[in-house]
Parts: sequence; C-alpha cells; structure tokens
Amino acid sequence: MKSLAVVVICLIQVVLIPRSHCRVFLPMDLKLIEQTCSKTPHRDLCVSGLTSVPASADADVKGLALIMVDNVLRAVANDTRNQINEKLKHSPEDKALSSCEENYRAIVELDIIEAYTSITERDPKLAKQGMDATIYDANACESGFAGKSPLTYVNTLVIDIAAVANAILHLLP
Ligand SMILES: *[C@@H]1O[C@H](CO)[C@@H](O)[C@H](O)[C@H]1NC(C)=O
Repeated sequence: MKSLAVVVICLIQVVLIPRSHCRVFLPMDLKLIEQTCSKTPHRDLCVSGLTSVPASADADVKGLALIMVDNVLRAVANDTRNQINEKLKHSPEDKALSSCEENYRAIVELDIIEAYTSITERDPKLAKQGMDATIYDANACESGFAGKSPLTYVNTLVIDIAAVANAILHLLP
C-alpha cells in the first residue's frame, strides 16, 4: 500500500510541478533514455547522468546527446577544473597540476563547445572529434603525474562520459 501511495504522489507532482523542477520520470520518459543508454559502453552512468537533467524526459536522441555534452559532461569537467585550481592554490609549483589545468581549460572552453555546436549544426562527426579531444585531454592529465594521480576518479569519469556521448552521437544520422 505504501509504495502505491508513493507512485500516486509522484504522478500528482508530475502534473502540478513545473517540469524544470520535477525529477520524477514516468516509464514512457525513461524508455528512450534506457534504449539509448543500453547502446553505450556505460549504461548506468548514462541513465543516472541523463535522469539528473529534467529536460531529458522530453528529449529525442539528438537532445539526449546535447544534454550529455552540455549538462552532464560540462558540469563534471567544470567541477574538475575548479578542483584542480583549488589544488594549485596549495601547490602552485606542481607541473602536473598546471598541465591538467590547461587540459581542462581546453575541455571546458574548446572541446565541449565544439561538440555542442556541431550537434546543433547536425555534424555528429565533428562533435565526435570534440569528445575524442576530451578523452585525449583527460588522459594527458592523468598520465602527467609521476606517481599516483590525485585525479584518477574524475579523469575516469570524464573519459567514461565522453565515451557515452560518442556512442549516442553514433546513433545520430
Ligand atoms: C564553472 O565553475 C565556476 C566556478 O564555480 C562557475 O562560476 C561557472 O559558472 C561554471 N561554469 C560552467 C560552464 O558550468
């Protein structure tokens, strides 16, 4: 009985609350997300990334590609860049961190924008180059540390999200 009440409340929220504030996904909204994500190398990461953005509920595959690049990847890459800048305040001489800062500046200011613009201009091939450049830059950051990298978790996340975006781009005509 309890779970039924939860479902009803969710349905009411979907109707009453403006979509932008609503994080409840109806099964029909989830269908395209799940179908699309099952064709990527990191299904769960893809589903959780897309469902964190309410606009995914109404998006077509091109829209999902845009959200993966412009919302999901951009947020993680920007957070990583902020994290690197924070670490640089404590160790301004750290060469590996400085080159990571350059890598992430390129990801946020060039690679993601190239991908986003190319998707809107219906050029998925060029958009993939933006994602390949993201993967290249995150790998460059990761391999710049002599010992253990303090950024393995976020670099891996960025690489996995870019790979997911590439797989979604592959579905576009
Ligand atoms: C990136 O992070 C900075 C610092 O928190 C913030 O001011 C900026 O709006 C963010 N930019 C993007 C594109 O998310």
